[in-house]
Amino acid sequence: MLTNPRGDKEIKSSLRLTRRKFVQSILGIGAAAGLPAALTACSGSSKAGTAISSDAAANQFDTFSESTFPKGFFWGTATAAYQIEGAWKEDGKGESIWDRFAHTPGRIKNSDIGDVACDSYHRWREDIALMRAMNLNSYRFSVAWPRIQPSGSGAANSKGIDYYSRLVDALLEARIRPLVTLYHWDLPQALENAGGWTNRDTAARFADYVQLAAQALGDRVSDWVLFNEPAAFVDLGYLEGTHAPGRKSLLDFLRATHVVNLAQGAGFRALKAARPSVHAGTAFSMSPCEPATNSEADKLATERAHAMTNTWFLEPALRGRYPEALTFLPETAMRIKPGDMEKTLAPLDFIGINLYYRTIASAPGAMERVAHVQDWLFPVKMDGGQQGPKTGFGWEVWPKALYDMVSRITRDYNRPVIEITESGCSYNDGPDASGIVHDSRRIAYHREYLAALARSIADGADVRGYHAWSLLDNFEWAEGFSQRFGLAYVDFKTQQRTVKDSGRWYAKVAADNRAAAREIVRPD
Ligand code: FCB
Repeated sequence: MLTNPRGDKEIKSSLRLTRRKFVQSILGIGAAAGLPAALTACSGSSKAGTAISSDAAANQFDTFSESTFPKGFFWGTATAAYQIEGAWKEDGKGESIWDRFAHTPGRIKNSDIGDVACDSYHRWREDIALMRAMNLNSYRFSVAWPRIQPSGSGAANSKGIDYYSRLVDALLEARIRPLVTLYHWDLPQALENAGGWTNRDTAARFADYVQLAAQALGDRVSDWVLFNEPAAFVDLGYLEGTHAPGRKSLLDFLRATHVVNLAQGAGFRALKAARPSVHAGTAFSMSPCEPATNSEADKLATERAHAMTNTWFLEPALRGRYPEALTFLPETAMRIKPGDMEKTLAPLDFIGINLYYRTIASAPGAMERVAHVQDWLFPVKMDGGQQGPKTGFGWEVWPKALYDMVSRITRDYNRPVIEITESGCSYNDGPDASGIVHDSRRIAYHREYLAALARSIADGADVRGYHAWSLLDNFEWAEGFSQRFGLAYVDFKTQQRTVKDSGRWYAKVAADNRAAAREIVRPD
């Protein structure tokens, strides 16, 4: 949510509410309303300074020395079912909200759809071979809920189970740890028809599904991610409407945040009941928040931004409460019932961090607070940083963001176990005349972020693994196939995979358990 720069400016400004409309929506009067531009960070201009050379990012950590990692560190890549599998209606799979959304004209850039994507449903052996070639020992992938329960409830679809079972067996044989995400955004459409994440019953449905998945795979899978980026999918899907299911409603957004928190608790308990010895976490979309200036108002805004961006789904899990991010907690609008905050508790075994960029926070001026309800309910403006170089997506490369976030979570949550469940960059470098993909900017990105991570570990953080997003170029949600994040290039016409230079570089990092120093290039 709130830090996801996928929410673009035009959409955000169209969502500005009048105070009257907001009060109506809280009271349930009138049509559903959209939320607050201020709650949808990271675009537009920043007050964080003028652009300086890309060395500003590169020089934050010493990449002229090697970065070392603890013994047994997990080197992995991450993917998600809808982004790579294809086979959208094969072997009894039900329709997901992403199938429906992508099939709706005008929703996805270039009218792309994920019906085939990387065809990994059929090519998973090739994908495992790529991971072996990269010397990886961890693979974060997601289970498509509608493959297991086509309509979101009831008995398991055995063919769906078989697919993941074969995948898990083959990974274990290749000595790659499966790190299985249970929900990476592809809700069964039948559940959306019944209200989706705004319906409390969806939390119970999620727990049933988790139980089925744990029964089927939990004898071999010991590490599970309950949700991928709850803050992102609730914001983009229910508030901004740029992701499935495409709703633009403040009330739906507020309700969905609470139902997902309930589902996180219920899913955690279902997983542990089925398989007591497995480890459970969530992959949170995180972004360290920095004040735009040293003013007290901006500093207060920064703490609010942190609460909404980073801990809205973490505090309810670990401490049974919502962080103080809003001017008041709209409990009625969120439909919080007595006893709910015990139900949201989920003592996660690890905290998954998906991190790409930092956030610059500032306080809205008095006039803005009067004029826009979003600035009144959530008095924060959030932007992306402007000092570092930008990826193809326009996201700022800022390695220190990883250091700052890991350090803060380590400090605030008593040194929890952390996994970096995603980090990466989109650059559309393709094969040259001899078929080689020279993606040196991606190597620089991972080298710099890994140097930041190594420093946070040296300073005391308990980080167990790093998962590059992504193994393959894939279907990048509303951006379709226009953003390539892979360590392996995919020709979407032939489905041919080619390991990029970055994939070869990462293979050496994984084999050596360290990122070698970058070479000093001396001018002749
Ligand atoms: C993250 C998502 C992932 C991918 C990357 C680029 O927010 O979890 O699926 O789209 O961004």
